Amino acid sequence: MTKIAVMTSGGDAPGMNAAIRAVVRSGLHYGFEVYGVFFGYKGLVEGNIRKLNRYDVSRIIKRGGTVLGSARLPEFKEEKVQQQAVNHLKELEIEGLIVIGGDGTYRGALSLHEMGIPTIGLPGTIDNDIASTDYTIGFYSALQTVVESIDRLRDTSMSHKRCSVVEVMGRSCGDLSLYAGIAGGSEFIITPETGFGKKITLEGIKESYDSGKRHAIVVVTEKMIDIEAFSKEIEDYTGYETRATILGHVQRGGDPVAFDRVLATEMGEFAVELIKEGKSGKAVGLDGKKLVAYEIEEALKQKIEIPNKRYGIVGRLK
Ligand code: ADP
Ligand code: F6P
Repeated sequence: MTKIAVMTSGGDAPGMNAAIRAVVRSGLHYGFEVYGVFFGYKGLVEGNIRKLNRYDVSRIIKRGGTVLGSARLPEFKEEKVQQQAVNHLKELEIEGLIVIGGDGTYRGALSLHEMGIPTIGLPGTIDNDIASTDYTIGFYSALQTVVESIDRLRDTSMSHKRCSVVEVMGRSCGDLSLYAGIAGGSEFIITPETGFGKKITLEGIKESYDSGKRHAIVVVTEKMIDIEAFSKEIEDYTGYETRATILGHVQRGGDPVAFDRVLATEMGEFAVELIKEGKSGKAVGLDGKKLVAYEIEEALKQKIEIPNKRYGIVGRLK
């Protein structure tokens, strides 16, 4: 095998560039020609694929986003669309593909593997919602951004004796909210894992208000509740003037923190080694301090454990 390709897919995440750089540099080191697929599965289907050299990835280790671009292409679930991607790879004689993305991206990678393209998946998403790795590339960088935002919200909340309700990304995974809530010293954390106990949360906030606390921070995972409406309920029930803040896509941008740069670099190099050994259909993960490779199929079936049960009681940080 002489040619391999790398691509990023799904929501971008800080550290994806560091992974791309590692794949390119270690691929070249092992004697491969390395190609970049631009804009995820969309680019793969359209044949938007270009050869990369070591200078194409200079200085990107510290940059957020993805220089290859990303996309969501729901049609990639269809076999005839996947076949177009396979055809482009075969035309270019690319015999190994490394995809960086979340679980949706992994499902696409599994299809390509089943269609005979040696494919390896790297976990790249801010959500940390892939059970086969302790941490995904991008999680700690987004976490830092969320914590900095909570710190800022606290400054203004306590100045006005207000409650602040903050909506954090994560799709259906509460890790980003949970870790940010803990690191930001928030009073209440509501995640898909804890569930939303409205009454107990309102009572807890009222208790804070009545005890004279100058602020309360409530962290909520996206898609769970309407935080504008809930803020109004908090005002009515507790007496706290309340503001709702949806952090949104700010959380996905910015330079990767050192942890993500290291994780992405090690995982990128590991993926190239797996391809070199003739492996396919594998998902790379971090297990403690060790990199591991699961069957993608198995990785997709694994269930995420709730990180710390102490924080899991109906939305109330104990
Ligand atoms: P993420 O990879 O971050 O989970 P998505 O769920 O949007 O993000 O998935 C990224 C892309 O992976 C989708 O836009 C689609 O092109 C592809 N994909 C998702 N699910 C499947 C599937 N079941 N089969 C094949 N491809 C899929
Ligand atoms: O998967 C990453 C993520 O940022 C999720 O946290 C969020 O639900 C989703 O992507 C947002 O997607 P989009 O960028 O397409 O709006």
